[in-house]
Amino acid sequence: MDGTQNSAPQTVEVDVDSDSALADDASTASTSLAESIFDYRRENGRSYHAYKPGSYVFPCDEKESDRLDLQHHLFQLTLDGKLFLAPVGPDPHHILDIGTGTGIWAIDVADEFPSCEVIGTDLAPTQPSFVPPNCKFIIDDAEDTWLFGSTKFDLVHFRVMGGCFKDWRQVFKHAFDACAPGGYIEVKDFILPMKCIDHTYAGTALEEWDRNMITASENFGKEICQVDSYKGWLLEAGFVDIQQRDFMWPSNPWPKDRKLKEIGKWNEVNITDGLEGFSLKLMTHGLGWSETSVQVHIAQVRSAIRDRGIHAYFSIPILWANLPQAVRHSYHGPYTPPVLELSVYNYDQMPNREV
Ligand SMILES: C[S@@+](CC[C@H](N)C(=O)[O-])C[C@H]1O[C@@H](n2cnc3c(N)ncnc32)[C@H](O)[C@@H]1O
Repeated sequence: MDGTQNSAPQTVEVDVDSDSALADDASTASTSLAESIFDYRRENGRSYHAYKPGSYVFPCDEKESDRLDLQHHLFQLTLDGKLFLAPVGPDPHHILDIGTGTGIWAIDVADEFPSCEVIGTDLAPTQPSFVPPNCKFIIDDAEDTWLFGSTKFDLVHFRVMGGCFKDWRQVFKHAFDACAPGGYIEVKDFILPMKCIDHTYAGTALEEWDRNMITASENFGKEICQVDSYKGWLLEAGFVDIQQRDFMWPSNPWPKDRKLKEIGKWNEVNITDGLEGFSLKLMTHGLGWSETSVQVHIAQVRSAIRDRGIHAYFSIPILWANLPQAVRHSYHGPYTPPVLELSVYNYDQMPNREV
């Protein structure tokens, strides 16, 4: 089976020879990740963003940044090196990445399209200092009014932003207003609960964790998975020609298919490294658990992730949609910098940061 096509999951064969050797790879990569030294809000040993503190539940420390870069590699494997699926023309002028994280996607896009201005926004300034000249980062909350003036984008991109917004509908409306006529929106995300090709996930700690994450995020006020509503909300915002492709990230290298096995190997590291960051703030605040209870729970989940006998996977939907040509915006006007003085980082002027 071709992993990029990700057709009927029932056809994915289990590799019966799958052994624990790959799990050892995972733990080695995991332990090599360095501790965060960023001076952000500290809680239960992790660092969180300082702008609009408390509004996003995953950390922004070095450990999480390393995981995000690893997850970028997972997307690259999944999409055979493509950065987006929307049929953007060969010469885009402006591309916007909302919730850019470490900025790795935005930087790659800027390298691929040197004459395109690429802007990444985020709540946390975790992007590198050395970036291509056509790439810039802005600290901004995507749920606030967007500050791009008359600049309209050929592509507005969202990746793994589940759980980031109280009101996706409003965010999609902002994206519609920011898109150029004929431009695209692309949304890559993950689905919780995880899926499974057989019955091996039922009753596991992994299933329990999925349920806990969903309930905690609902209690927190930003649901972690609303993918089923995206299509309707995109239409409501005014986008047309909505397309969706679904990909598969196995929980570990359990599939026989070579490509899926490779993706599973990376995803095992992705989840086991991310587990603490995903769960700590969400479960302490959203479920009222103690840190110790969360740590006990995630230790069990980590074992389930490494278990080759559990044939679970994340469904990874990628949706893209078009803004009709007929929509009249002023197009490609000068860039209007955001006015939030303290929340804007211009890397040309930034003092060196100790890392
Ligand atoms: C799971 S990470 C994904 C990062 C990046 N899109 C990627 O694929 O590597 C989510 C990012 O969204 C940012 N974020 C969360 N809420 C946000 C908001 N309301 N506005 C802007 N960025 C936000 C977080 O700081 C974090 O960097």
